[in-house]
Amino acid sequence: MKEKIQEKFRTLFGQDGELFASAGRINLIGEHTDYNGGYVFPGAIDKGIIAEIKLNGSDKVKAYSIDYDEYVEFGLGEEDKPSQGWASYIFGVCRETLKRGGKVEGFDTVFAGDVPLGAGLSSSAALESTFAYALNYLFANGIDKFELAKIGQSTEHNYCGVKCGIMDQFASIFGQQGKLIRLNCKTLEYKYFPFNPEGYKLVLIDSCVKHELASSAYNKRRASCENAAAAIRKNHPEVEFLSDAKRVWLDEVRDEIPEEDFLRAEYVIGEVQRVLDVCDALERGDYETVGEMMYQTHFGLSRLYEVSCEELDFLNKLARKCDVTGSRVMGGGFGGCTINLVKDELYDGFIAAAKEQFEARFGHALKVYDVVISDGARKL
Ligand code: GLA
Repeated sequence: MKEKIQEKFRTLFGQDGELFASAGRINLIGEHTDYNGGYVFPGAIDKGIIAEIKLNGSDKVKAYSIDYDEYVEFGLGEEDKPSQGWASYIFGVCRETLKRGGKVEGFDTVFAGDVPLGAGLSSSAALESTFAYALNYLFANGIDKFELAKIGQSTEHNYCGVKCGIMDQFASIFGQQGKLIRLNCKTLEYKYFPFNPEGYKLVLIDSCVKHELASSAYNKRRASCENAAAAIRKNHPEVEFLSDAKRVWLDEVRDEIPEEDFLRAEYVIGEVQRVLDVCDALERGDYETVGEMMYQTHFGLSRLYEVSCEELDFLNKLARKCDVTGSRVMGGGFGGCTINLVKDELYDGFIAAAKEQFEARFGHALKVYDVVISDGARKL
């Protein structure tokens, strides 16, 4: 990938730039908790984005995406937003850096990635983090790492229409090889946990389906949670985010909020606790409990939060049948991957059964990615 980028950069711009990279992410547990002020437990993976960049002394960004085989030029003013989806991420990062008082001037760039698109591995956060990190480096802006993650998140909010939490960009910026990171999304305290489950493999099964309207459904989930939190807050003013609420406090407002909002909140409150339980279990080396919590999360995401789909529920059930230790839909949902914790000796049988039965049922193949926990944003 690197060589291809360098060759294209030379052809287009006649010189060499500097190389930067960032990564997609997995999340062991803690889904849809980030924008509720709860815990998440992600890590960066060995699939990401690489970009070559060189300042060009103009006020224009000249960008070429190898994967889309498309060249775009845009200015740095608010009115200059490019129409291409991929370019609006880079544009958003420039704008959000400028809004924070950082310096950004014209640059040339060529980039490519190997994060499967639509798989829920956050290729967009990888792209944002690569450029947030690179611009900070190249213009010596001195913006701290959390703010770099927030630059990516604000790009999603203000230029891409997704009211996402901080998890993906956080993982993509802070990721370290072999470590998962538990982040408290309210206080922003975080802790690295070495993750090397001896005797087990962590594997993603990509259903290769991506449902339309995922971002509006995502924003709707967020609104439900905020509504439930607002109702609880009337009785318990200390509730800033839904994650601050006790389960019994939610019961108190059951009749005051739509049933749908109640179910969403019920899931979130349970999920926040599950992250802590999983961290404890990990420290004891108790992978059976980790796995059981993953199944509980899947149940919640499917029945209460309603972000699963037929294909993912099928894969989850199949995992149970194959005695897989833990399995659940990962990321925002509405398609994408399940994440599975499986004993070494059961791995081959599970993958073979999943491939065969999934294709027989849905008429198309799935994809399998072994998880390798890797470094996040960096200069190469
Ligand atoms: C998407 C969002 C994240 C997070 C997850 C669900 O990946 O970008 O902020 O909310 O969904 O956990």
